[in-house]
Amino acid sequence: MKILVVGGGGREHALSWKIAQSSHTERLFVAPGNGGTELIAENVPIGADDVDRLVEFAIKESIELTVVGPELPLSLGIVDRFEEAGLKIFGPRRESALLETSKAFSKAFMKRHSIPTARYAEFTDLADARAYIEATEGGVVVKADGLAGGKGAIVCPTKEDALRAVEMMLKEKAFGRAGERVIVEELLTGEEASFIVITDGTHIVSFPPAQDHKPVYDGDRGPNTGGMGAYSPAPVITDELREEILRTIIEPTIRGMREEGRPYRGVLYAGLMITDDGPKVLEFNARFGDPEAQPLMVRLRSDLVELLLACVESRLDSLNPEWDPRPALCVVMASSGYPGSYRKGLPIRGLESAERLKDVYIFHSGTARKDGMCVTAGGRVLSVTALGETIEEAKRRCYHAVERISWEGVHYRRDIGDRALKRLKQGGR
Ligand code: AMP
Ligand code: GLY
Repeated sequence: MKILVVGGGGREHALSWKIAQSSHTERLFVAPGNGGTELIAENVPIGADDVDRLVEFAIKESIELTVVGPELPLSLGIVDRFEEAGLKIFGPRRESALLETSKAFSKAFMKRHSIPTARYAEFTDLADARAYIEATEGGVVVKADGLAGGKGAIVCPTKEDALRAVEMMLKEKAFGRAGERVIVEELLTGEEASFIVITDGTHIVSFPPAQDHKPVYDGDRGPNTGGMGAYSPAPVITDELREEILRTIIEPTIRGMREEGRPYRGVLYAGLMITDDGPKVLEFNARFGDPEAQPLMVRLRSDLVELLLACVESRLDSLNPEWDPRPALCVVMASSGYPGSYRKGLPIRGLESAERLKDVYIFHSGTARKDGMCVTAGGRVLSVTALGETIEEAKRRCYHAVERISWEGVHYRRDIGDRALKRLKQGGR
């Protein structure tokens, strides 16, 4: 069949890499793709947010399955538009994607269905938000209601930080319309984990848990990014905890969405804090995580297209995918300056030699090809991923590959996997 992947990051390269291996795939297109997808698929120069042209392209090329990577097209209703045109597409409709695209919706939904999450209040008025913060004990997190590219949550340990954050959003409009409504919520402590499932609205297939690394520098210092590295499995999620997460978070969410008349189909990704008081939801995403998808795709042994088709055709109960028992670890190599501004077009050296290493997979995030050479074209540039018998071995293999690759100003975290190693040393699994 003819398949279209929408997006152009490391997540979409990993999805395309897996889709390209399926016996169902005859032709694979990626819009807009990157310097890595170009080698395994046909890049189409249409932006992921250009829904009109994507529908037109899918009709013209008789695309039989479209897979949406990022949240932006979901928020623009790409799934609704494709379905109206009679096209098969994997992802939630706009009304269901609200779980990610509106924090106000998502928090109120969790409250309605008693899904564990931080206590919160919602504001559009600056004076009200100030008064609430003044009366609060302990730190808070201030969040823009709408999409803000992963930068819309500000962790505020002190009252001053919180007052500054609401002012930035409600008065200075630093996040534009996305920040006209804000959530002020209780600051939770614990270890974070990404719990990802796919669902057809009724049935659920859960992926092995993963862990992301959002802050830009080692030791979780510096500003938040889209994600600087990930690994799977995440030892913090024991089998017992996994059952608890399914029972108290995932199942009630999918049931609740169905009961409210907006059945949820696609990826449901719960960003969790594992607190002393049990797992709590920090946020929902309506898509695969980036970079979590990279280690997950490397570990998936079953055919991804079959899984996605079963989801779109509401027969997910018939599938039970197989996973590589070995852990996978991914290190994101970024441009100098990221998550702030950065230069593009810098030549990348050492890719071929790194790619030859055993059990190493290199997914491109922001790259392009110029005169046959691979150059940087984004903030996050490469997602280097490796499998190993243990997390320690996966880490060693991954950094071995990372060290062979270079460009001017490249930077990456050197401690991806350390949290898991520490936990394992302390007597976890
Ligand atoms: P979000 O976009 O809501 O996932 O928030 C981004 C990041 O901010 C999360 O990955 C956490 O590191 C942090 N964060 C969000 N909400 C909270 C919270 N209630 N308590 C502590 N940290 C949080
Ligand atoms: N890695 C975090 C995200 O995809 O939102």
